[in-house]
Amino acid sequence: MSLKNKKILLVIGGGIAAYKSLDLIRLLKKNSNDVKAILTKSGKEFVTPLSVTTLTKNKTFENIFDKDMEAEIDHISLSRWADIIIVLPTTANFLTKLSLGKAEDLATTVILASDKDILLVPAMNVRMWIHRATQTNVQILKDYGYLFIGPEEGEMACGEYGEGKMSSPRQIFKYVENYFNKRDVFKNKKIKAIVTAGPTREYIDPVRYISNESSGKQGYEIALALDKFGVKTKLITGPSNINYQKKLHVKKIVSGDEMLQEVKKSLPVDLAICTAAVSDFKPLRKSKNKLKKDQIKSNSIIIEKNRDIVEYLGKNNKNRPKLVVGFSAETQNLNRNSILKMRKKNCDLIIANDVSRKDIGFNSNFNAVSLIDNNGNIKLIKKNKKSLIAHKIVEIILDKFLINDKNFN
Ligand code: PMT
Repeated sequence: MSLKNKKILLVIGGGIAAYKSLDLIRLLKKNSNDVKAILTKSGKEFVTPLSVTTLTKNKTFENIFDKDMEAEIDHISLSRWADIIIVLPTTANFLTKLSLGKAEDLATTVILASDKDILLVPAMNVRMWIHRATQTNVQILKDYGYLFIGPEEGEMACGEYGEGKMSSPRQIFKYVENYFNKRDVFKNKKIKAIVTAGPTREYIDPVRYISNESSGKQGYEIALALDKFGVKTKLITGPSNINYQKKLHVKKIVSGDEMLQEVKKSLPVDLAICTAAVSDFKPLRKSKNKLKKDQIKSNSIIIEKNRDIVEYLGKNNKNRPKLVVGFSAETQNLNRNSILKMRKKNCDLIIANDVSRKDIGFNSNFNAVSLIDNNGNIKLIKKNKKSLIAHKIVEIILDKFLINDKNFN
């Protein structure tokens, strides 16, 4: 596969490396990609609109208040048009604007309005790059999901040596090619996935229930990451305060029984990732009215076990997903107990979460996990934002899926 027939929007920033954007345009065009470019005010100091238009064979966009542009293609349509947006060179100043969420000119407005991935290609003096302010902005942007390539180490235009040199057009081309190859594999194969997330509520009476601290964040981030990789994803989630992105297919449920029914309805799927903290127990009976204090005696609420959804999927002879991934929440003997669960529920991979820690896991924005496969291989993913943990988990799961899929076909 190669990088072909994609719609690529370049934002050309104000740095000496801007001249290399012309080489990248040539490479992209040579491979039949449609390229449009926004030239920032400072980018225009380094390359001219005429050279950009000559190479892209498209109008070069400069100004947000350009009446001709808004008549032809408005700034929102321009951001929707692109399959990916590449900002090169990304200066320290531009990084700051993005991390603040500014929309002060055409480039920043299009980026803020975009629902596509944005690849930043930094280039700046080494001192500017390693400055804590810049690194803080980089971290913020990574958390927002921006992609980065470089900067590389080498001699810079200012004569100093170090990390800050922009990646070459060929390196950027390869990165973008790889980016699309991964996504196209799953899109073309029409892979379908379900993700379970959040807590369940098992009602005792109309106002009281058994539940847990799960916020649904980790599962939501996993569903988003799958969606980014082109996997058709349905998120089945218990009660949560998350403001779900509209593009995601979300089904909200309340109890473990409802989650199981929704999972059953969703089959067949290729992939099931079960992050939900399904309550292990539910009251045998739910009272129609609020229980009075004197109605409740010790031991008067009888509980029974909820059906195990992962086990249902893992041992499903007729409709077993090709890959069943369980999550495991433990406060002790994390790996050992997780491996036992993986075997009992017949899943292919289990993701172990240490929920004795308060800084990660339940209802935190952070997590740290170990991925354990059914050959006993353990891979640790260090503490990070749940969005980044999700991205790494999904990359590993999809790689494993492709290997398994080859064996199935
Ligand atoms: O939601 P967040 O606040 O972001 O927190 C994320 C998390 C900590 C909840 C998540 O990362 C996590 O650890 N999820 C697993 C929670 C859990 O209930 O683990 P468990 O060890 O009790 O269950 C093991 C597996 O069996 C899980 O995949 C669970 O979904 C599944 N299960 C459990 C009980 C049941 N009746 N049916 C199930 O399918």
